[in-house]
Amino acid sequence: MKHVFSGAALATALVLSAGTASATVKIGFMLPYSGTYAKLGQAIENGFKLYVKEQGGKLAGQDIEYFKVDDESNPSKGPENANRLIKRDHVDILVGTVHSGVAMALAKAAKDSDTTLIIPNAGADAITGPLCSKNIFRSSFSNWQPGYAMGGVAAKKGYKTAVTITWNYAAGKESTDGFKESFEKNGGKVVKHLTLPFPNVEFQPLLTEIAAIKPDVVFTFFAGGGAVKFVKDYAASGLRKTVPLLASGFLTDGILEAEGDAAQGLLTTLHYADGLNTPRDNAFRADYTKNFPELPPDVYAVQGYDAAQILAAGLNAVKGDVTKKTAMRAAMSGATIDSPRGTFKLSKAGNPIQDFYLREAKGDKNVSIGIAVKALADPARGCKL
Ligand code: PHB
Repeated sequence: MKHVFSGAALATALVLSAGTASATVKIGFMLPYSGTYAKLGQAIENGFKLYVKEQGGKLAGQDIEYFKVDDESNPSKGPENANRLIKRDHVDILVGTVHSGVAMALAKAAKDSDTTLIIPNAGADAITGPLCSKNIFRSSFSNWQPGYAMGGVAAKKGYKTAVTITWNYAAGKESTDGFKESFEKNGGKVVKHLTLPFPNVEFQPLLTEIAAIKPDVVFTFFAGGGAVKFVKDYAASGLRKTVPLLASGFLTDGILEAEGDAAQGLLTTLHYADGLNTPRDNAFRADYTKNFPELPPDVYAVQGYDAAQILAAGLNAVKGDVTKKTAMRAAMSGATIDSPRGTFKLSKAGNPIQDFYLREAKGDKNVSIGIAVKALADPARGCKL
C-alpha cells in the first residue's frame, strides 16, 4: 500500500518519531568471529549484551538492534567491512574491533562518516594518539600500557637484558616498545627484538635464537589461539627453566585452560585479573557465568561490558536521542565507568586511565598479586584535542 501524507500529517509523523522514546538504537559489531582472535570477538559481544540485558534489554529506554560483521582480523578487508555497517546497515554506533590494523581502518571510516565508535579491545596507540577524535572512545587499553607496566616490574626484579618476541604488527610493536621504554628507563637493555608475521605460529627458529642469546628475561605479546601455541612451545623448548617469560596479560587471559601446565606460574600485567574479589567484579562474574557458562569471564568480556556502559552514559544524557551527537559524546567522555576491573575515567584522548595488575597464572586463574602501576594514563603522543 502506498502512503500519501498531506503536509500537515507528515509534519505530525516527524514530530512523533523525534519526540517519543520508541526509536531503536542500531549497534554494529565489527569483530573477529573466525581466526586466531575468534574467541576474543565472541567474549566482547557477550559482555556487551550482558550489560544491556542487565538494564532490562534497553539503554536509555531505547530498544537495541544488533548488526554483525566478521572482520576476520584482516586489515585489507577493514574499509569494506566498516562500510557494510555504516553505509548498508546505517548503524548509529560502531563497536569494534580486536586487531589493531583492522581498528585503524575502522577508525578512519568512523571519522569520515562522523559515526560514534567504541573500541572494545584493539590497542593501536595512534587511535588515541595522532588520530584521536571526539567520536572515538576505547573501553580497553593502548598497546603501550601493559608493556610499559611490565618493563618497570622486570627492572625491579633485577633483570638487566631482555629479548622481546611478538607478531610483526602494531600491537606487537607497540607493546614491546612500551616494555622497552620503562625497562630501559630503569636500567635494563632490550638486546634483541624478534618478530614473525601475524598470525604465524612457527616459533621454533626464534626460540632457538633466544637460547643462543641467553638474555636475563623474555617479554612477549601474543594473544588468542597463537598465544596458546607460544606458551606450549616455550615450555616444550625447555627455556622456562633458564629464561623467565614475562608478558602482557593477553598471553594467558581467557585461555589458561587450553595452555594447561605450560602456563603455570607465568607473570603478566593487565588491567584485569581473576579474583579481584570486589562486590562489583563478583556480581559481573556470577552473571557472566550464568549467561555464558562455556566461556570464562575474561578481560575481553569486561571490555565489551564496559563498552556498553560507556554508551549507556552517553545515551542517558540525551534521553536516548542518538542524533544529539555532541551532547552524547561529551557525556561518554566525562563518564566514570563502574567497571568490574575497578572504576575508571577516560583520558581526553578517550583511553581508560586505569590500574595495571601484576598477575600470576595459578590453575585456571590469572590471580592478582599486586598493582604494577596505579592509574596509568596513555601518554597520547600526538593527540591534539
Ligand atoms: C591488537 O591487535 O590491538 C590486540 C589484539 C589482541 C589482544 C590485544 C591487542 O589481545
